Amino acid sequence: MYTVHLQASKAYDILIGPGLVKEAGSHISRIFNPCKAAVITDSNVYPLYADCVCRSLEENGFAYDTYAFPAGEQSKNLSTLSDILEFMAESQLTRSDIVVALGGGVTGDMAGFAAAVYARGIPFVQIPTTLLAAVDSSVGGKTAVDLKAGKNLAGAFHQPSLVLTDTDVIAALSDQLLSEGAAEVIKYGVLQDKELFSWMCSDAWKEKLPEIILRSVEIKRMMVMEDEFDTGLRKMLNLGHTFGHAIEKCADFSLSHGFGVAIGMAIAAGAAGKMDVCKEIIRANINCGLPSSTAFSPDILANAALTDKKRSGATVDLILPEEIGRCNIVKTPVEQLVTLFEKGLNTVKELI
Ligand code: GLY
Repeated sequence: MYTVHLQASKAYDILIGPGLVKEAGSHISRIFNPCKAAVITDSNVYPLYADCVCRSLEENGFAYDTYAFPAGEQSKNLSTLSDILEFMAESQLTRSDIVVALGGGVTGDMAGFAAAVYARGIPFVQIPTTLLAAVDSSVGGKTAVDLKAGKNLAGAFHQPSLVLTDTDVIAALSDQLLSEGAAEVIKYGVLQDKELFSWMCSDAWKEKLPEIILRSVEIKRMMVMEDEFDTGLRKMLNLGHTFGHAIEKCADFSLSHGFGVAIGMAIAAGAAGKMDVCKEIIRANINCGLPSSTAFSPDILANAALTDKKRSGATVDLILPEEIGRCNIVKTPVEQLVTLFEKGLNTVKELI
């Protein structure tokens, strides 16, 4: 098992290894006295792992109540958040109790936000069950729900107290869910790890899941420790996200986040005029079962990008690749977005 220690406004461990779901209660009992745990999950994960986690909590002296919401990004809204908060209140959770977020990015973001605002903040534990959540959203304390105007527009920074990433759970995922997570791993490679990137271009990437998760989490850890509140270096983690979120929005969120990020990274490299990098990203995307292009037009996409929360007044901080392993933050006037979408998309179309 790997242990990554992250020291931000709160210090916590990220454990990566087999069997952690079965042992969840025992790991949680090392940092919390017996209390009540509100286990928040979704309708897909509930039948797979909720019993196992709850049994382990009970064996280690915890009481628990479980809440499962309908799986999917369309549940990530204020209405589901309100239902979760009402459930926590009905369970009579107090500030000495905990939330356990058991699921993918939607669950982690929403349960984390509920923990951030319930009783002005109670602790929570992340148990990510997708590769995307394991390598990105479960680490670093970003919690949120979507608003009609855009993704993750209401949220809070609230660091978890522990992250338990069970590699048996990740290894059992469908090809589609592994591909979605692979997009974020490719992102870490493009940002600063050539070797990790090369793994994602090889046939054997699925055999290296524990190492891939570790390398990704170590990069994220470093960025979060340097810039917990996302005012500088951490913005790098948005590589592919401004372009990708716009595509997700235009597709009415029928396109998964990972797929949006994969296309967004290829567009970002094209927009930066880096043909070679764009080619490499397309190669990694194809290897991992990810798309690199979209049929939406540059002006529709640029318009969708205007509500991105990474926009600051009349500019948006774009992350543009320089080479595999190195990217820049480029403050860009929003009126240039349409030209950049156009340049990026044209380059991608030329290369695929
Ligand atoms: N998912 C990007 C970040 O945590 O900053």
